[in-house]
Amino acid sequence: MQHWLTPSNFNKLALVVLALAATSILAACSPEHPQSTFGYGGPVARDQGDLFILIFWIAVAVFIVVEGAIIYAAIRYRRRDDKIPKQVHGNTKLEITWTVLPSIVIAAIAVPTIIGIWEQQRGAPTDMGDVLEVEAIGHRWWFEFRYPNQEVVTANEMHIPVGRPVNVQLASQDVIHSFWVPKLAGKIDMVPLNDNLLWFIAEEPGVYDGQCAEFCGIAHAHMRFRVIAHTEEGFQQWVAGMRTPPVAFESGSPEQQGQTLFATHCKTCHTDDSWRQDAYSLEIQQQDSRWATWLDDIENSRIVSAPNMTHYGDRLFLGAGIKENSRENLIKWINDPNDIKIGTSMQAHAAVYQERDDNKINLSSQEVENIADYLLGLVPGDIEQLAAPQITGGTPEERGEQLFVSIGCNACHSLDADTTIVGPSLIGIADRAGTRTSLSAEDYMRQSINDPAAFIVDGFTNSMVVPKLPASQVDDLIAYISTLK
Ligand code: CUA
Repeated sequence: MQHWLTPSNFNKLALVVLALAATSILAACSPEHPQSTFGYGGPVARDQGDLFILIFWIAVAVFIVVEGAIIYAAIRYRRRDDKIPKQVHGNTKLEITWTVLPSIVIAAIAVPTIIGIWEQQRGAPTDMGDVLEVEAIGHRWWFEFRYPNQEVVTANEMHIPVGRPVNVQLASQDVIHSFWVPKLAGKIDMVPLNDNLLWFIAEEPGVYDGQCAEFCGIAHAHMRFRVIAHTEEGFQQWVAGMRTPPVAFESGSPEQQGQTLFATHCKTCHTDDSWRQDAYSLEIQQQDSRWATWLDDIENSRIVSAPNMTHYGDRLFLGAGIKENSRENLIKWINDPNDIKIGTSMQAHAAVYQERDDNKINLSSQEVENIADYLLGLVPGDIEQLAAPQITGGTPEERGEQLFVSIGCNACHSLDADTTIVGPSLIGIADRAGTRTSLSAEDYMRQSINDPAAFIVDGFTNSMVVPKLPASQVDDLIAYISTLK
């Protein structure tokens, strides 16, 4: 019987196997893949991709030249007889050539690489748009995102506007992660006590996958996150939503019972109401104190830094991006977080898990469902109904001053002519306002308060969020602002 694997069949088979292997390996480079670095989502990713391609083709050229020389030498000088070939020691011309040529190749790689590193390290360029500042903090096993200028805190899902540079300050608490959003920029480590910086721009709205790229411990493979890019308007809506109270739950409803259970068992570590006035600085203080408490007695601490749950119902994923945020998954998670993601701190620290021998939650299944319903019900209420504070008594100027602070105008507008926070300083605004348009100063201010997009001063963008104020309160505000000289 003739064997089917003849030499010519073998060659064909080898070709097919090679082609299949190459196709499957190259498929991973497909720009459509959610974590492909070749699916450039913005200019930083594109520049880094171009650099990679340049280095790749230089390496291909070096490979061809070196392999070609080896093959040529192997054939040309192969052994033909038993005579010892002519012995050569040194060739100045050749040695100079193979010293100079690689130096040129290395310079051709080094110059664009160093320029790229500098461009990334000097931070987001201000000439490419209004820079959004975000602080990303690594934890075991989740990511915290803080927006110091918007006073918003969230976890595992970072919201950004398209077309604006985003400056991400990378820090970490108790672990070294590597922050990596393949379609937006290369990876940079998040190291405790050593802040790093990364910036990028997303060009299209959408959800970009992020992934920890540093082996950081038991949950490394589960350290995912998302960057959600909105249109500018959508981003401002998200920020406003994060400062708006959730829809109120009916008394006795499962959500309301869940709220009580959450307050009893979860709230020591998970803040759920950072929409409140001044909640931002409070949350930072609380996270610091949770961290200090944990550090003080790591084995026995009942407290640990944990993800902020404000408007959790809007999250797409749970467990740092590993499962869809569905009711079913959330119930499973609350029951036994370690079953979904090994290494979570919940069972190691929270009393409600420690009370049971099997480390599952010490609550009935109905109670767990109520907590899940409460969390999924946490979505921003109607921004229009963001209550204007009741301020009575005093002169219009005095009421306006109280209002100015209580609705947070002072968070963005400084009362010092030389200081800019987010918006313009308001010192002397009454004099300036009267000269800007054909409107009177008072009408200019009224329109700016009612519709922040009406007039934008050069060098600023519209990121102002105001609750709907009754006309009398707008008058009080104008009376106060007019006194700022
Ligand atoms: Cu964090 Cu791997």
